[in-house]
Amino acid sequence: MKAILLAAAGFLALSALPADATADAIEKAIKARKSFMQVSAFNLGILGAMAKGEREYDAELASAAAKNLHALSLQNNGAMWPEGSSNDKPGLADKTRALPVIWASYPVVAEKHKAWTDASADLAAVAGDGLDVLKSKIGPVGKSCGGCHKEFRAEKK
Ligand code: HEC
Repeated sequence: MKAILLAAAGFLALSALPADATADAIEKAIKARKSFMQVSAFNLGILGAMAKGEREYDAELASAAAKNLHALSLQNNGAMWPEGSSNDKPGLADKTRALPVIWASYPVVAEKHKAWTDASADLAAVAGDGLDVLKSKIGPVGKSCGGCHKEFRAEKK
């Protein structure tokens, strides 16, 4: 079955590589999506450190990181999630933690993605306006990440 599903929010426009996608193409897509997640975590980490008092609040940096996080959430990265790239496929157990259920549960996964888009928009609107307001808006962003990971990402081995 080759489903091409377009998520409004762009995460899992479950795509789109040809059925005979090479192992190399699959591995590149996996690398790209993990890097994308790392870039997202880097930006959230800056904000989290400020919220926890581990790093001095800096309005400009906070605003930039929150805007990045929101912009990242708007990318359409469907091509990074080709069918056949879940962690149950031969040879992929050590390369990806993406659970097969991702490809079977549209649109739930897109809704999870939308939670990130919405929460990061709220945060980006105010992150430069002071530490208190940053603290009040960061929680839902972190939860939006965790909400998807809980259902769609395998535990670390
Ligand atoms: C719609 C679902 C979804 C949302 C929302 C989401 N992630 Fe992920 N994330 C995943 C999946 C699935 C993986 C596993 C990818 C893989 O191993 O191929 C992952 C992997 C990761 C990883 C590990 C990357 C690696 O190198 O193995 C990090 C870090 C991460 N996510 C951070 C975040 C942060 C931070 C947010 C929120 C700002 C977020 N994610 C939002 C689904 C999501």
